[in-house]
Formats: sequence, C-alpha cells, structure tokens
Amino acid sequence: MSDLLNTLEKYNQSHLMKYFSELNAEEQQNLTAELESINFDNIAKLTAEYVLKQPETHIPADLSPAPFFGLNSKNDAEKELYSQALEKGIELLKAGKVAALTVAGGQGTRLGYDGPKGTYPISPVENKTFFQYYAETILRIREKYNCDFKWYVMTSILNNDATIQHFEENNYFGLDQDSVMFFAQGTMPCIGYDGKLLLNSKSSLAKNPDGHGGTLLALKKSGALAEMAQNGVEYISYFQIDNPLVTIANELFIGLSALKDSEMSAIMLAKTNAFEKLGNFCVSDNKLSIIEYSDMPEELATATDENGVLKFIAGSPAIHIISREFVERLTADGTLNLPWHRADKKVPCLNEEGVLATPKTENAVKLEAFIFDALPLASKTLILEADRNSEFAPTKNQTGVDSVESCRDMLMERDAKWLENAGVTVPRNEDGALDCKIELSPLKFIDAEDVKNYCASNTVNISAEDSIYLS
Ligand code: UTP
Repeated sequence: MSDLLNTLEKYNQSHLMKYFSELNAEEQQNLTAELESINFDNIAKLTAEYVLKQPETHIPADLSPAPFFGLNSKNDAEKELYSQALEKGIELLKAGKVAALTVAGGQGTRLGYDGPKGTYPISPVENKTFFQYYAETILRIREKYNCDFKWYVMTSILNNDATIQHFEENNYFGLDQDSVMFFAQGTMPCIGYDGKLLLNSKSSLAKNPDGHGGTLLALKKSGALAEMAQNGVEYISYFQIDNPLVTIANELFIGLSALKDSEMSAIMLAKTNAFEKLGNFCVSDNKLSIIEYSDMPEELATATDENGVLKFIAGSPAIHIISREFVERLTADGTLNLPWHRADKKVPCLNEEGVLATPKTENAVKLEAFIFDALPLASKTLILEADRNSEFAPTKNQTGVDSVESCRDMLMERDAKWLENAGVTVPRNEDGALDCKIELSPLKFIDAEDVKNYCASNTVNISAEDSIYLS
C-alpha cells in the first residue's frame, strides 16, 4: 500500500485516495487494484504529449494518394484476377476460414440512446436491432456457404453485460451460442486538463474504452485469436456496429486479400467532396496509412488531377479484411503500441463535494487508438473500391447526415434495387424516391442473387404506400 501511495504522490495523483477511508473493505480493494493496474509513468508521458499540449499530426512531404482496385476490373488481366479472387473468396468461406468481427465497444454518444448501440432498433419495417440484423445475415452466410462462420463481437466494460443480455433474451437470434464470442476491449483512464485522473465514484476511476484500435490486443488477450487459430480461421471480416449495409461475406474482397497476401485490406469509397468526413487513404514511404479528414491539409484535400477528379479520392468506411497471422504477429508479446488520438470530452466525475456531476464544458481528454493505424505495420496491404450505396450506411445521429433516418433509407433503397433487378416493380414517386417501405429479411436475402432466385418462383406485388417485409 505504501508503494502505491508513494507512486500517487510522485505523479501528483494523491487526490484519487481522498475518499479511501470512507470505503468498505471491498471498495478499498477494488480501488487499490484499479490504481495498481495503472502505469503512472506512462500516464505522465501521455499527459505531456497529448493533454498538456495539442498533439500535431505530422504530414509527410512525400504523401501521395493510395492506389486501389476499382469497382470494376479495368483490363483483361484484372478481369482474370477478379474472377480468380471471387473463386478464392468462395472457397475460403466454404472452408470456414473466414470469421466476422464486429466492433461494438463504442459509447454511441451522438446517437443519444440509452443502451449498447447494437441493441438499437434499426431495420426500417420490422425494427430489428443492429445485432439481430447481423445475426440473421450470418445465419444466411452459414447456410449459403454451408460453413462455420463464427462471429466475434467486441464490447467494452460499459456495455458488455447489456450486450450479452440482449442476445440471451433473444435466444441469440437463432444462432447457436457457441458460434458467437464476446470479448471486451481495454480501457484508458480519462485525463483531466490539469493532468490529474478523475474519479467516477469514490472507489473507481473515470475511464473510456481504448478505441477500435484496442481490438487487436483485445483479440489476443481474450483468447479469441487463439480460438480462431484452433478453428482454422485465417481471415477476419472487420466492420463497425452501425453499418448494417456492409457486405460481411465479401467474396471478392476476401479472395483478393488472399491472392495478394495482404495482411490488412481496406474497402474504399470515392469521396463525394474534398471535405467529406472520411479518413483519406494515403501512401508515404511505401506504407499505406489513413489521414483523418480533420488532419488533411486543405491544399491536399482539394487537389485535383488533369480530369478535375480529387487526387485523394479514396475515403475509408472502416471495413477491413485482416489476416489472423498479422494480428498474431503484432500482438505476439502481449503488447501493441498504436499511436493515441485525443478527443476532448465532458467527462462526468466527482466534484469538490464528492458528488458525480457532468461538467458544462469539456474537462478531460479521452485517448483512443484507431484500427487503421495498424495499416502501416502490415507487410502487404490492398484497397478495393466499393459502391457506397450498397456498402456504407453509418448510423451516428438520430436525424440528418449519417443518421438512423439515412441508414433506413439506404437499406430500403438497396433492397428495392435488388427487387427491381429481379424484375419486380417497386412504386416510386416522380422524383424516383420510394413510394413504399421495403425490408428484406437477411435470413433469406443477403445479395442480389438471393432475391433473383426467390423472385423466379414467387410473385412479389408492391402497391404505393405499402409496407412490405419479405422473409
Ligand atoms: P465511433 O467513433 O463512431 O464511435 O466508432 P461511436 O461509439 O459509434 O459513437 P460516438 O462517437 O460516441 O457518437 C466507430 C465504431 O468503432 C466502435 C464503435 O462501437 C463503432 O462500431 N468502437 C469505438 C469501439 O468498438 N470501441 C471504441 O473504443 C470506440
């Protein structure tokens, strides 16, 4: 105990023991254990680097746009490569060498929903939660490829129990319990602007999940990585909890990654404008990296080629294929030092009177690691373009851009396109907008082919203003 007190004093953190004498034995034990688990030397370094000054992003002088494989093959050789990649992807899926990984440990602050984001009812007609939507997609993937397609779900201490409860209450949405593994990511203490850590209660610190970059180490520490190896999983299909449009079993993407020995691959979308809020794929010193939109110098963001097309056109929707061996290599010694990113937050903490209160203005820094900072650490990478309308419907807010509304609209539009492609007449207004509500159950339909096959032997009639659910 005296060691701990000395350490706290040395690093100017003694205030964390202010209420110690008021605590019962168990609470005292918890606080002691929590404080002993913190590397205060490291916190002091991080405070100096990220809290007491605004960290600057270094933009390398040789920064150039990253090359990518286009949506469609551009010559015969590439056509052949895409066709081999498709075949390879299907083969890997059928052999059970691919698993899904959803990162769902975030706090979902912008959505303003009281519960894990994955438990938010998102589907446009049936109000299925994100988790149900993915679970049903995975059931269909398992059926389609006749494979074991395991699902790894990363949670955080803030939402792990509520997430598992959601699955239990819903009988895992038809999945067998063994095919879903939850694992919690690490945390970081929130650091006050004066460098002092904050108390969230008299016996615990204010902490935040350590960012989606925490996924890699959490995979290792939780045993999920070892389990993947045991089950013969070679590729991880990584996606975020709030994008139900994502193609989880993307045959071409998986196959290309395998044929090109890519350790970490990324989907890219053509940015709609220079300042769209997507990370930019860039290359420097032959290494792929992502520069956040907020860090991209304006002259680079707006630079165009001779055809007037943005040079840095490739934006990241955070969809990756990651090779299991890459994660094993990165985390072999049980550590992983990705750079940290600073976010200024209003962190609830005990005030002078010892009462939990949310400050009116930002009071602390939340440090997070980002998954894309692993890209430069990969020996080989690749980027594949995807069609935004069938791949990316991020759900960050309730309304407006990247919202529940826009996500539902995109899901309905994608489903409508699949139906139209299969010969079904979908009611639309003069301006082309849907004049009905449509939802296709992912239990049965995960791609255009599924819908085509269904429509070949079933008649689908949709009238204006209908609300249609096909399952
Ligand atoms: P965002 O940065 O968009 O965060 O995470 P969020 O939690 O969804 O929403 P805000 O910013 O608080 O409003 C992108 C993805 O990364 C996951 C999120 O769950 C989401 O799927 N994530 C984020 C984690 O798994 N852990 C983290 O520590 C942070």
